[in-house]
Amino acid sequence: MNWHSRYLQQAAWTRELRIYLFEQAGLTKAKRILEVGCGTGAILRELNTPSALHGLDLDPAALAECKINAPVVLLARGDGHHLPYPDKYFDIAYCHFLLLWVNDPLQVVHEMARVSHAVLALAEPDYSQRVDEPEALKTLGKWQTTSLTRQGANPSFGAQLAETFFQAGIHIVETGPIQSQAVIRTSEDWENEWTVIQADLGGSIPGEEIQKMKDIDEIARRHGQRTLQIPTYFAWGKT
Ligand SMILES: C[S@@+](CC[C@H](N)C(=O)[O-])C[C@H]1O[C@@H](n2cnc3c(N)ncnc32)[C@H](O)[C@@H]1O
Repeated sequence: MNWHSRYLQQAAWTRELRIYLFEQAGLTKAKRILEVGCGTGAILRELNTPSALHGLDLDPAALAECKINAPVVLLARGDGHHLPYPDKYFDIAYCHFLLLWVNDPLQVVHEMARVSHAVLALAEPDYSQRVDEPEALKTLGKWQTTSLTRQGANPSFGAQLAETFFQAGIHIVETGPIQSQAVIRTSEDWENEWTVIQADLGGSIPGEEIQKMKDIDEIARRHGQRTLQIPTYFAWGKT
């Protein structure tokens, strides 16, 4: 599984909203910006700002890739639950597809609020509200959601995002669902999606069962009858 290409795909889904939110949060005037859980740098590499960019992640392999994809970024290996930065060190601290993966999202958001003046959670999905059409593909959605839980994620965290900001004492400026996200359109998008599905389910669902779903998916797409939507939420606020 090439995680960087998956992260680039997710980055494309949220680009439009991200540009707007960064502008609202004062990107152009910021002196220091932090991404918590920066992965391979899919978001950091696109940030167009004179400010100093910092990225933090638990995974050394992701950080090594990030160094190549976003060479100007100051990288640190660390845990979002205990950020190694002083209070209010950053103008903006943000994350993108992170909080569903952490043990204690409230603690991570608290930490982001401690080290910054503005916190942005750009994309957190809610798989419990996933929409699959045709009906026969609902099973696929259930398998994937179960697999995410098995991998340690909270698949419905998106629905708790605003409440988590509130509990962390952040003054929410804007929150809601991302309108254009996760509408998979191109055949390359679908290929990527199936690579992820096969990587996710390979160990738990027999290959022929997965193939049956793939066949249903392909036929439905050919007839313009395939829908896959995963409601995904954002929030930003001041600390
Ligand atoms: C789904 S990836 C998203 C990467 C990047 N934000 C993006 O959107 O392209 C989640 C990343 O969060 C990192 N991560 C997970 N738990 C973390 C934690 N507690 N502290 C720091 N990073 C963490 C993972 O190593 C992974 O790189």
